[in-house]
Amino acid sequence: NKGKYEHYMQKEIHEQPESLTTTMRGRLIRGGSSNRKSVLLGGLKDHLKTIRRSRRIVFIGCGTSYNAALAARTILEELSGIPVTMEIASDLLDRQAPVYRDDTIIFVSQSGETADTLNALEYSLSNGALCVGITNTVGSAIARNTHCGVHINAGSEIGVASTKAYTSQIVVMAMVALAIGADTISTKPRREAIIESLLELPGKVKQVLKLDEEMKDLAKSLISEQSLLMFGRGYNYATALEGALKVKEVALMHSEGILAGEMKHGPLALVDEHLPIVVIATRDQCFSKQQSVIQQLKARKGRLIVMCSEGDGTAVCGSSCRVIEVPLVVDCLQPVVNIVPLQLLAYHLTVLRGYNVDQPRNLAKSVTTE
Ligand code: UD1
Ligand code: F6R
Repeated sequence: NKGKYEHYMQKEIHEQPESLTTTMRGRLIRGGSSNRKSVLLGGLKDHLKTIRRSRRIVFIGCGTSYNAALAARTILEELSGIPVTMEIASDLLDRQAPVYRDDTIIFVSQSGETADTLNALEYSLSNGALCVGITNTVGSAIARNTHCGVHINAGSEIGVASTKAYTSQIVVMAMVALAIGADTISTKPRREAIIESLLELPGKVKQVLKLDEEMKDLAKSLISEQSLLMFGRGYNYATALEGALKVKEVALMHSEGILAGEMKHGPLALVDEHLPIVVIATRDQCFSKQQSVIQQLKARKGRLIVMCSEGDGTAVCGSSCRVIEVPLVVDCLQPVVNIVPLQLLAYHLTVLRGYNVDQPRNLAKSVTTE
C-alpha cells in the first residue's frame, strides 16, 4: 500500500524517520552503574567475545548493501581496533580469496537471498569463519545460515532501488561497532556522542526530507544530462557510490561515485563547464581537503553542486555553485543524512525523465542467480 505516495520508492524514502526509529527500538537501553544508554543487540550478545578475538573482520555484500558496509567500515575499525576489509560477494568467489577460522565475516543483505552473498556465505562457512548476518528479512537464507546476526527491522522494502534499508543497515552497523568496541573511560565520550546522535537521527532525517522540492528543482536542471559525477571521501565515499548507484539504476543516467582523493589520478581530465559534479563536503576531518578539491574543480570551471553542512554554503563555495545544505550529525552517522537528498534527486530525475521508478529496466528486487 503506497498510501499518499505515487511510488514505493518515494514512500520508502519519506518513511525513513520511522524505519530508523524501528531499527533502534529496544536496542539502545539504559544500564550499568552510570545508567547511561548503551547498545544491546540480542542476536550478537553471546558472540561478542569471539568477534573481539578475531584477527580481521570482513564485510561482504553486493550493490547498496556493500555501500552501506563501506559507510560503516571506519567506525567499526575505530571502535573495535580490528582491521576491517571489504569484499564484493562475487569478487571474493571469483578470487577464491583466503578466509580463515579466526576471521569474523559479516554478510550484509536486505533480502537475505542474494545468490552471490549466499554463495560467499557457504564458502566462508566451509572455511571455518564466524559468520554474522545483517539482514532485513526474518527467516531468509542468510538469516538462517549465519551463526548469529542482527535484523535491521526496516519493514518490507518494495521499490527495487534500496533506500530505507540502506540507512537502517548503516545504523545497525554503527550499533554493531558500539557493541564490539570496548566501553572504557577513554572511549566513553566518543561512544556517548554517537549514541546521542543515533537518538537524534530520525529527527535530523525528517529535517533533511524537507529538501524534497529543492531536489525536484535540481533534478529539473539535470534532466537531459548524459552523466553526473559524485565526489566523496572518508565517511562519505560510500555516499558518493550510493548516490551514483541510485541515479544510474532508476534515472537510467550514467553516474559515477569517485573517491575525491583519487581526483588527480584521472577523473580531473573529465572536468569542464558542462559536466555536473556533486561534491560532498559536510563537516568532518576531511572537510579542509574537500574545500581544496572544490577550489581545484572551480579553477577548471567545474559545474558544481556542493553538499555541505547547514550555514556553510557561501563559505564553502561562494556564489558560483549550487548548494545542498544538510543538518550536521556525528561524523560516522553523517552518511545516513547525506544520502537522503541524493535519493530524492534520483527519484525526481526518474519521474521527470519518464522512467519506471519501482521497476527499473532489467533489474529485479532480489538477485537469486549469479
Ligand atoms: C528478538 C526478536 C524480536 C523481539 C526481541 C525481544 C526475532 C526475529 N526477533 O530481536 O522479535 O522483539 O528479540 O528481545 O524473533 N540472526 C542470525 N542471522 C541474521 C540475523 C539474525 O543468525 O542474519 C539471529 C540472531 O543471532 C538472533 C535471532 O536471529 O538469534 C534474532 O535476531 P534479531 O531479530 O536481530 O534479535 P533481537 O533484536 O534480539
Ligand atoms: C540497489 C539495489 C541492489 C541491491 C543488491 C543487494 O538499489 O537494490 O544493488 O542492494 O542487489 O541486494 P541485497 O541487499 O538484498 O542482498
